[in-house]
Amino acid sequence: MTSVEPEARSVERERIRVEPVRTSEELELVYAIRSEVFDREQHLTTWVRDYPEDGRSLNVLAWIDGEAVGTGRVSLWGDEAQIAWVAVRRPYRGRGVGRAIMEHLIRWAEEQGARVATLNAQTHALEFYRKLGFRPIGRPFYMAHIEHQLMERELQPRAQGGTA
Ligand code: COA
Repeated sequence: MTSVEPEARSVERERIRVEPVRTSEELELVYAIRSEVFDREQHLTTWVRDYPEDGRSLNVLAWIDGEAVGTGRVSLWGDEAQIAWVAVRRPYRGRGVGRAIMEHLIRWAEEQGARVATLNAQTHALEFYRKLGFRPIGRPFYMAHIEHQLMERELQPRAQGGTA
């Protein structure tokens, strides 16, 4: 992971913006980042676009100085928020982008009334998700050639824009 001095890190964090995807052009940027990370870097899958859930989920982009640097998706199923496709482009890792994406997805899910968040973590990223309050459920498993672990975290559902 890129190492960044603490002071540089906090300056950097102020420059990270996470925004919901609103246009088809922005959705194409999501697919481009998925492709860069999950296809060309990890060889996990070549199919990164137009999943049925994409149309009924919140997709976000993380931006630094006008550059799209990361993405993530959350889908609601009843009171469960399923998080997937979290990816930060390699040169931008270790600066708080992944955390900013996750915090945005979790906040949105809580505003929608979700009570639990689940995800299939690649096990190399377990510590990243642990730091965000997720705990492993059951045993690791393989998806493609990459070991994964189901994780979950309880949420605090709250009314949009207000108190619980
Ligand atoms: N192992 C251990 N700790 C990690 C970690 C890792 N692989 N990745 C991040 N962390 C820690 C950071 O040190 C930081 O800790 P701190 O808050 O105590 O300083 C915290 O998690 C947040 O890190 P952040 O800088 O926000 O993470 P990131 O922007 O580098 O994004 C990933 C993390 C996993 C999203 C990114 O590495 C990535 O896109 N990897 C490739 C795709 C992938 O594996 N996605 C996950 C699919 S399940």
